[in-house]
Amino acid sequence: MSTFKAVRVSQDAGKSVSAALVEATIDELGAGEVVIASRFSSINYKDALAVTGRGRIMSRFPCIAGIDVAGVVESSADARFRPGDAVFVNGFGLGVSHDGGFAERVRVPADWVIPVPQGMSLLEVGTLGVAGFTAALAIHLMELNGLSPDAGRVLVNGATGGCGSIGIDMLARRGYQVVALTGKPGSREYLMELGASEVILRSELEMGTRPLEKAQFAGALDSVGGAQLSWLTRSMLENGVIGAFGNAGGADLATSVFPFILRGVRLIGVNSNAPMPVRQQVWARVATDLRPRHLDRVGFPVTLDQVIEHCARSVEGQVQGRAVIHYR
Ligand SMILES: NC(=O)c1ccc[n+]([C@@H]2O[C@H](COP(=O)([O-])OP(=O)(O)OC[C@H]3O[C@@H](n4cnc5c(N)ncnc54)[C@H](OP(=O)(O)O)[C@@H]3O)[C@@H](O)[C@H]2O)c1
Repeated sequence: MSTFKAVRVSQDAGKSVSAALVEATIDELGAGEVVIASRFSSINYKDALAVTGRGRIMSRFPCIAGIDVAGVVESSADARFRPGDAVFVNGFGLGVSHDGGFAERVRVPADWVIPVPQGMSLLEVGTLGVAGFTAALAIHLMELNGLSPDAGRVLVNGATGGCGSIGIDMLARRGYQVVALTGKPGSREYLMELGASEVILRSELEMGTRPLEKAQFAGALDSVGGAQLSWLTRSMLENGVIGAFGNAGGADLATSVFPFILRGVRLIGVNSNAPMPVRQQVWARVATDLRPRHLDRVGFPVTLDQVIEHCARSVEGQVQGRAVIHYR
C-alpha cells in the first residue's frame, strides 16, 4: 500500500507529547466516507499547542495534527461528493479526536466536508482555514448583536495572528474603522496594509484598573483573553459588542458587572465548531461581503517538514500572518 507524509503527535507512558514527520497509510486514518488529497492546510494556534504539547488539545494518541484542510476529493462513498471536487474541512474532530489536516491524505466523515464556495480558490479557503472562519463568525455574531460600521471604532487584538489579521481585513472591507493592538512594533506597516487605521503597541497600552475606563470602542475581536479582555469589557462604548474566542494571552477573566449593567456591553462567545447550517451561512458571507482582500499578504507558504518548527515559533507569538502548508 502506498504511503504519504503526515505530522503525527504521540504521547509516551509518562504523558510526554512529541510530534514527528512520519509515513502513513490510508488504512491507519480515522474512519470516514471521503478521502481528500490535501492541497493546503494552515497552522492555527490550537495546532501549535497540540504539536508542541504546550496545550492539552488532542483527546486521543497517536493522532495526526491539523484542524483544517483544503483539497480535492480522491474518493467518496457518499453521493454528495465526487472525485475531483474542491472541498475543505474545518474543525469538528479534525486534528483533535480524528486524524487531521497535516497530511498529504485526509479521510473524514462526509458530514464534515464543505464544497469550496463558488468563485473562491482552494488557496483562499486554505489560507482562511479555521482562523478565517472564526473571524467571520465573530463579526457575523457581533452584527447580529447590533454592531455596524457607523457605531464606532473596532479593536482587534492579537492583530498579527491568523484570526486578527483576517479579522482586520474583513472589517475594513465592510467599512469599519479598525484599531489594531499588537505586541510587534515591526508589524505596523503590515497592519495598515490590511486595513487598520490605527495601531496600538501592547507595550504602550494603559489598561487601568477602574470598573469602567474611558469608553472607546463599539466592537472588539478578542484573540487574547486574560487582562486584555478584562480591559476591553471596561473600555467599550454603550452597547459595545465583544466577540471573544481566544486565550493567546490568558484564560482568566477578571471584570465586574458594571460594563454590562451600566453600558449594556455585550460579551459574545464564539465557538468555531458551529453546526453546519451556521457554517454554510457564514461561508456564504466569507465569499461575498466579508471576503478578505489581502490574503496574499496574510498567508505565507511552508512545507510539511517545516511544520513542527513553525508550531514552536507560533506558540511564542512570533509569527506574523498565517503559515499555509502547500502540499503540491
Ligand atoms: N473559539 C474558537 O473556536 C477559536 C477558533 C480559532 C482560534 N481560537 C483562538 O483564538 C486565538 C488566536 O488564534 P490564531 O490561530 O489567530 O493564533 P495565532 O495566529 O497564533 O495568533 C495569536 C496572536 O496573539 C498574540 N499573542 C500571542 N501571545 C500573546 C500574549 N501572551 N499576550 C497577548 N497577545 C499575544 C500575537 O499577536 P500580536 O503579536 O500581534 O499581539 C499572536 O500573533 C487563540 O487563542 C486560539 O486558540 C479560538
